[in-house]
Amino acid sequence: MQKKTVRDEEVGGKRVLVRVDFNVPMDRNGKIEDDTRIRACLPTIIWLIDHRARVILCSHLGRPHGRVDEHLRLAPVARRLSELLQRPVEPLSEAIGPGVLRAVSEMQDGEIVFLENLRFYPGEEENNPGFARELSRLADLSVNDAFGASHRAHASVVGLAAYIPCVAGLLMEKEIVMLGSLLEDPARPFVVIMGGAKVGEKIGILENILTRADCILVGGGMAATFLKGRGWDVGTSAVEPGTMELVGSIQRRAAALGVRVLLPVDVVVAEKPESGATARVVRSDQIPPGCRIADIGPLTILEFTQELRRCRTVAWNGPMGVFEIPQFSDGTRSIATVLAGLDAITVIGGGSTAEAVTQLGLAGRMTHVSTGGGASLQFLAGKTLPGIAVLVDKE
Ligand code: 3PG
Repeated sequence: MQKKTVRDEEVGGKRVLVRVDFNVPMDRNGKIEDDTRIRACLPTIIWLIDHRARVILCSHLGRPHGRVDEHLRLAPVARRLSELLQRPVEPLSEAIGPGVLRAVSEMQDGEIVFLENLRFYPGEEENNPGFARELSRLADLSVNDAFGASHRAHASVVGLAAYIPCVAGLLMEKEIVMLGSLLEDPARPFVVIMGGAKVGEKIGILENILTRADCILVGGGMAATFLKGRGWDVGTSAVEPGTMELVGSIQRRAAALGVRVLLPVDVVVAEKPESGATARVVRSDQIPPGCRIADIGPLTILEFTQELRRCRTVAWNGPMGVFEIPQFSDGTRSIATVLAGLDAITVIGGGSTAEAVTQLGLAGRMTHVSTGGGASLQFLAGKTLPGIAVLVDKE
């Protein structure tokens, strides 16, 4: 990797500001529903403590847009982190200012404090230099372990780098190396599974990965756009305006490059994909009017499975159906189970795909599950993420 990491720094006795992405699902009572993102940063935090750094953690939570929202305070997250680390983590009620400076000045080596939600301050999302400067006064070095927020040009992610050096944390390093390996030299055959609802969001990945992949499997809601492109009726399935053209051009490019694009041969449909709905399996060219695609069908699962069993690298972005509802979860569950049993490199994009494999208890059996939703989409689309661009380069 071209970027410096914490391992390249002498951190003993230094104040180190660590940007993490602890934007975790939390209910109104402060109960954390999934702590994956907190666990994912433990290696960096432990490394820093073991090397006697003074660790100042900072994160955003939710979208309070520059105002204090009592339900989005980070104290419950600090508590969870403290349980996981089995050592005290002191939550502060502010992110900048004299009180914070005082608390930091009283820290001993190996201690941890946790700043309040960065997005309580308008300067964070505005990437305001004054706010970035205030944050930078807290530390000698900054570590970015917030891969999931690195597509945001915010003060704690980008602006800070104008004042103190920013290096990658161990999670950030892992994300860059694992996702980067898909774009550099993946072991072949390389199969890409694309799903989820929004084709528009995924077009960038399709275009970028096309020249690297051997085969693309299309499922989820986005399959509707591809099937409609064949001139088939897709009932009430959503087809985003303007995407038919893009999908058509992707398929022509794929054909020219010799990349196979497999669409579902059968699908599970329902009038409304909600709990209690009746699910029906139909051929993909026989979707009844008034019904919409809610999952891939059993024949498609079989066909996709055969393809996956041959491959040495898989990248998966987007569930195969409405996996939250049991009658539409077979496709996602089957594909996740096949991947878990493969002797291949399996990389799962963040967001709902990561959520699905975590809920199925299969995350630990994948080579890598990204912690970034939007960030992994942009990374795989070949875009330079602003939070990665500002990290110090290796000499
Ligand atoms: C995420 O959950 O994808 C990141 O934390 C970024 O959050 P945002 O989309 O609110 O910027």
